[in-house]
Amino acid sequence: MESGHTVGYLSDLLVIADPTTLAREAAERFTQIAEEAVARCGRFTVALAGGSTPKGLYSLLAAEPYCTRLPWQNTHVFWGDERAVPPAHPDSNFGMAATILLNRVPIPADQVHRMQAEQADLDAAAGEYQAEIARTLAAQPSDEPPAFDLILLGLGTDGHTASLFPYTQALRETARWVVPNYIPELKTTRLTLTIPILNRGATILFLVSGAEKASVLQAVLQGPADPKRLPAQLIRPVAGRLVWLVDQAAASRLSDKAP
Ligand code: 6PG
Repeated sequence: MESGHTVGYLSDLLVIADPTTLAREAAERFTQIAEEAVARCGRFTVALAGGSTPKGLYSLLAAEPYCTRLPWQNTHVFWGDERAVPPAHPDSNFGMAATILLNRVPIPADQVHRMQAEQADLDAAAGEYQAEIARTLAAQPSDEPPAFDLILLGLGTDGHTASLFPYTQALRETARWVVPNYIPELKTTRLTLTIPILNRGATILFLVSGAEKASVLQAVLQGPADPKRLPAQLIRPVAGRLVWLVDQAAASRLSDKAP
């Protein structure tokens, strides 16, 4: 069962019955966006989310019918953020997507653009990743950020998305597309895409699942604006479309009245 609410201009909220159906809805949309991008300009660029919610989606994309429908030869995969660990580490967002999806599909290796967040010099790694985005999306690193065809995002129970955590430095970044971000609660520094490039996404797709997200989802979508405390509220596409795909458990505290 799904119900659509419009939660603001250029935004949609779809409440999906359960995690399995959520993953299938996400796989269908991911694939349609990829097919449309390749039909339009011969290429599909996507920034993947980390964490656990997208695992069901990535598993579906590695299997029929999606793995055959997806235009892997014309697809470029990036990440929205990465932990300060090597690719083989169990916490690696790259490692998770590679194991579940990318190692199982015919995407050319040079079209998988890993964030090297394990580097000692994370400022340099951020600059290199920005340059890689610029080269691939045919932008100039000093220009306006380019638009990914699709950006997948998750929502943390503290309101973070990507590695834009509450009250952290990266929330204030207005120029760079990729930055290191120190997260005091985790006592670690991660690499993350920033608001300027995230909000340029042609389609930004949040995947939110589980009762433990109900409170934060209600706060983000229907509570007062408080983006330092709830960084996911900073995600407002400049010209693209924002879609929230949430399951019923995560949506259980949303009021049906307009936000
Ligand atoms: C990460 C993600 C992060 C994630 C949220 C939700 O590196 O972990 O980029 O933003 O999307 O923390 O994570 P779950 O899907 O595991 O709840």
